[in-house]
Amino acid sequence: MSTERPFQAETSPAEPPTPPTRRTFIATTTVVGGAALAGGLVAVPPALAAEEAAAEAPPSSRVSLTVNGVRRTVTVDNRTSLLDLLRERLDLTGSKKGCNAGACGACTVLVDGQRVNSCLTLAVRLEGAEVTTIEGLAKGDRLHPLQQAFIDQDAFQCGFCTPGQIVSGVGCIEEGHTGSAEEIREWMSGNLCRCGCYVKIERAVEQAAGRK
Ligand code: FES
Ligand code: FES
Repeated sequence: MSTERPFQAETSPAEPPTPPTRRTFIATTTVVGGAALAGGLVAVPPALAAEEAAAEAPPSSRVSLTVNGVRRTVTVDNRTSLLDLLRERLDLTGSKKGCNAGACGACTVLVDGQRVNSCLTLAVRLEGAEVTTIEGLAKGDRLHPLQQAFIDQDAFQCGFCTPGQIVSGVGCIEEGHTGSAEEIREWMSGNLCRCGCYVKIERAVEQAAGRK
């Protein structure tokens, strides 16, 4: 009979638990706390949540302006352009967003009778202003003379630039810059037409200005 003892695992006496260090305590409580928040176990006080939401919300303002003869009062993010207000809030999509950077004139509208690029105009600055868009030019079924002139002169192809061209042309005529074809071209030069309809656009402005 063997005198060898069967293999027995060496056991060491149980070690006393190591007290948590400051680092492990913070790591543990952060993980547990984060999990509780993620799981919705810890409710954020409503007042604090409202405060945080208010702090995150972009500053907004209330503005009243008249658009095509109709008084409109809206609350807008202070960064909202007139173009976005017209297209996205007031459902007036005639003014087009071409470059959104003041380079093409597709967004041209009249503000207090002056031509402006609505993509570069902040809506909050227009308290009390009178805005006229392409939708506001016709009188019922009767087209504005320049709208009719664009049809008569076939002054468009794709039509994307046309609302801006027509509103700008109205401004050009009212400003009195229609003394010659060259003068019209100069004062309409902020409105680009990728289809190259410039000759016919100039003729349409001439026609509406009463020179043809
Ligand atoms: Fe405003 Fe081009 S969209 S100038
Ligand atoms: Fe097409 Fe002017 S008609 S961009």
